[in-house]
Amino acid sequence: MSSAEGSILSLKSLLDELTSLTGKDAKVAEKIEKCQKLVKGLETTETGILTKFRLDGQIALVTGGGQGIGRGFAHGLGEAGCKVAVADLEISRAETVVSELKAKGIEAIAIKVDVSKKEDTKAMVQKVLDTWGDLHIACNNAGIVYHSDSEDTSETEWSRTMGVNLDGVFYCCQAEAKHMLTKGHGKIINTASMSGRIVNHPQKQVAYNVSKAGVVHMTRTLGAEWATRGVRVNSISPGYIDTPLNQTAALEALKKQWIADTPMGRLGLVEDLVGAVIYLASPVSDYMTGNDVVIDGGFTCW
Ligand SMILES: NC(=O)c1ccc[n+]([C@@H]2O[C@H](COP(=O)([O-])OP(=O)(O)OC[C@H]3O[C@@H](n4cnc5c(N)ncnc54)[C@H](O)[C@@H]3O)[C@@H](O)[C@H]2O)c1
Repeated sequence: MSSAEGSILSLKSLLDELTSLTGKDAKVAEKIEKCQKLVKGLETTETGILTKFRLDGQIALVTGGGQGIGRGFAHGLGEAGCKVAVADLEISRAETVVSELKAKGIEAIAIKVDVSKKEDTKAMVQKVLDTWGDLHIACNNAGIVYHSDSEDTSETEWSRTMGVNLDGVFYCCQAEAKHMLTKGHGKIINTASMSGRIVNHPQKQVAYNVSKAGVVHMTRTLGAEWATRGVRVNSISPGYIDTPLNQTAALEALKKQWIADTPMGRLGLVEDLVGAVIYLASPVSDYMTGNDVVIDGGFTCW
């Protein structure tokens, strides 16, 4: 029972006592009735479904939090009540987001990390534990993309993409779960992509597509493996989202094609994804694990 639920229960029983003590005095009865209505209102606002989405006091980590989707996740988690560690390869980006969060009154720290390096991911989690003593929510979101015809995809492009998008997510999950499993609680949310399910076109991006399919199946595997130990692992698969990743002149023509191919006729916004992260991070989703939430404006329907 939450402290709000406890207080409301105590108020109700006090009001019941008052009712029996004051007999039939009309004025007192009227005031008691008013109090009972107020308590009913409190019950809805303080213990109703929306309060179960609150994440007050929880400690969250977001990789690739320095811009785009990760920045949006960091703001959303902070607004929902979390302390937020913003981790990024580009520390200056992470620091900017931390300043934005602090300006909203949210406790936050910046961490430099290259998620493709296992030792970096261990140090990142350790930094969160050294600062706040726990880790409840982890968004493994850092990712990169290259475009090339498959027959020309270089070894460097392949291994760099796998290093960040697949190895990186696994190293993060491992480092986070090492702590979460000992505590018996934790919510891991990996950023996959609709590219793990469909083949994007007209641009060619075999390494990215394979890496994201890997994230979806890694999520399924870890979700099942840790299901009885309190750690939930799910992923989010965005469609085309308007972020710095896609804001280049070279992509302008492609974007027109992507919009035409999307049933909703527009690119997604970061805000279109944030509600799902809050859901996956909150107790409301406790019965969900190993699964993938596709948010793509209907792209994968066609
Ligand atoms: N934007 C989209 O259309 C879209 C669609 C589907 C999935 N995604 C996925 O969402 C995630 C975020 O994408 P975005 O659009 O916000 O990208 P973005 O390029 O705008 O931001 C990514 C952030 O990750 C950081 N980063 C890159 N490599 C890193 C590394 N090795 N270690 C730590 N941080 C690193 C970058 O510095 C950057 O701040 C990625 O995994 C991407 O694949 C994006």
